[in-house]
Amino acid sequence: MKDDTANTWIDDEHSEQVDQYLDMADLVVVERQRTIKILSDLFAYNFTNPNGLSLLDLGCGDGVLSRHIHSLYPDNHFHLVDGSPEMAARAKSCFKAKNTSVVCQTFEDYIGEPASEPRYDFVYSANAIHHLALEGKGALYARIFRDLRLGGLFINIDTVLPASEKTEAWQFRMWTDWINENFRKSDLQERAGTYDGLPEGYKNSPENKPSTLLDQLRLLAEVGFQDVDCFYKYSVFAVFGGRKR
Ligand SMILES: C[S@@+](CC[C@H](N)C(=O)[O-])C[C@H]1O[C@@H](n2cnc3c(N)ncnc32)[C@H](O)[C@@H]1O
Repeated sequence: MKDDTANTWIDDEHSEQVDQYLDMADLVVVERQRTIKILSDLFAYNFTNPNGLSLLDLGCGDGVLSRHIHSLYPDNHFHLVDGSPEMAARAKSCFKAKNTSVVCQTFEDYIGEPASEPRYDFVYSANAIHHLALEGKGALYARIFRDLRLGGLFINIDTVLPASEKTEAWQFRMWTDWINENFRKSDLQERAGTYDGLPEGYKNSPENKPSTLLDQLRLLAEVGFQDVDCFYKYSVFAVFGGRKR
């Protein structure tokens, strides 16, 4: 079911958007590889034996997070979910490991699934949940909490809303400075400056509904998560989550 008409990701016809994102993600998503590493480190810290576990990747894209975790900890069950038929197809073709399932399903449909026994040990997501408004995030976090087994972990890498216009301006500059530094370090010097409008474009796109970090940490605590914390933040990109104890 498609619930959010502003969200072009979950359209049937959007392969251009998918290609553009996948081509540029490492160059324009601040510290993308570092945040992925932090997420997999947190997984290993939480589970003394990170094997034989059931993992859920929400808004998986082409499966980049799961493929990274699998390269380090292959003996787990990976469940990948994305609301875009195109992205789900990419994940299927990029991630063919055994013990893997890829399903095309929106967050809205996942939230509405009938209740079941807790079935996941680690739930994670990158740069996807900001497509839900605060109320939707609350419903999703509650669903994740319900579906996690005791001892389970939820980690979200995502863009968050700055606390004020002033700090938004600083954080948008941090974002474009990071992109331009990245271009200059790579063989793409001539592209420096070409993404200077990206933060404003992201802000003005109705499909992006970032909430503040504080609001989201509060939501996580309200639905029952413990040890709720932000583990890393650079510009508007944060890594945060909590445990079910
Ligand atoms: C920016 S991409 C990130 C993909 C991947 N996690 C990564 O880090 O490369 C956002 C992903 O969220 C998915 N998405 C957006 N809104 C969604 C929704 N309402 N339900 C499920 N998936 C959604 C998109 O299809 C897309 O694959």
